[in-house]
Amino acid sequence: MDKQSLNYSITPEQAASKPYLKAFSEEIMLGSLLNLKELEKSRINHPDILTYKSKMIGGGEKAYTHYADWIDFLITDYSPRTRGLSLGSGIGRVEKYLIEQGFSEKIETIELCANVNKKIRINDAMINVQQGDLNFIQLSPNTYDFILCHGVLHHLINLEHVLTQINNALTEDGLLLIYEYVGETRWQFSKDRMDILDKHFPEVSFNIPPRWKVGGFESVRSGDLLNLINTCFSENCERSVSYGGIYFPFVTCAKASDDIHMKRVVEIDEAFSKSGEISPCYHMGLYRKGSFSPPLAKPWSDDKVKSELEPAKPFSAKLSQRVKTSYLGDVLRKIKNLS
Ligand SMILES: C[S@@+](CC[C@H](N)C(=O)[O-])C[C@H]1O[C@@H](n2cnc3c(N)ncnc32)[C@H](O)[C@@H]1O
Repeated sequence: MDKQSLNYSITPEQAASKPYLKAFSEEIMLGSLLNLKELEKSRINHPDILTYKSKMIGGGEKAYTHYADWIDFLITDYSPRTRGLSLGSGIGRVEKYLIEQGFSEKIETIELCANVNKKIRINDAMINVQQGDLNFIQLSPNTYDFILCHGVLHHLINLEHVLTQINNALTEDGLLLIYEYVGETRWQFSKDRMDILDKHFPEVSFNIPPRWKVGGFESVRSGDLLNLINTCFSENCERSVSYGGIYFPFVTCAKASDDIHMKRVVEIDEAFSKSGEISPCYHMGLYRKGSFSPPLAKPWSDDKVKSELEPAKPFSAKLSQRVKTSYLGDVLRKIKNLS
């Protein structure tokens, strides 16, 4: 097959280049550190955010844990499913919950870190985990009556290819659940968004993380995602909610101690999400198989591969990393631990 017919932004040849392999190994390193405790501690799982999400997605006032905000309606209205596929399943926490709730007897998954996260992964005979890079995935057509993308599409580059593969792989009555970060690529929030935060929280100082600090494939094309999802699936949408345009940049750019403002943060988020005045950072959508012509991918040049995946670091950051990994770094750490 030629390059164009595969509809890739990044080709398999470019995926063998140093910048891709570096981002790939960072992604695997980050994946191997994820466990349930760490996930619970994450600031996007602040209790006020969980309560707010439950209200936005599930319509309830109770703060759900275990993704029940969207799993509840799936179970009530759409179960059981016979053959499920989850893309980028991480440690398998969502898949385990879906099986426990009787939504699907078995779930197959494809995960980049499958071989390195064995120790932290949730073991379940009903979850079949396969290692693979989704950017180049080839799925069997008309095979799955449920496909789940829970926090994975925003880590992918070949989005046009992957969304088309997903659609082809759905059975005629198949369902696709998408739950994703859809805000600015690499968390480089727009001025409009930051102006709103500054206006509502003058007491807080916001710092957008520098581009080079957002590593691996984190949010590598997230800014393109919502448009692509809509192009492919909006005609066959069963349910859709978008939110998070305020709370996500807040937890990303303000200090953890500023989370004392979280109740107000989510109130403002709700107002902006409902008015549509700013674009959302999160989207949850339940879709059916569509009949769209695949959106055409814009091929990345080799220079773009490098600048997107290996952005330039300032000299001070390079120096501090050198010191951290050197003998001097060891000495400094020991002195700090003694004091
Ligand atoms: C934010 S985590 C979400 C994990 C899981 N879905 C959850 O909700 O707990 C993103 C996952 O996507 C996986 N991933 C990232 N890029 C991938 C790729 N190119 N192919 C396959 N998996 C990938 C990562 O290893 C990680 O497990």
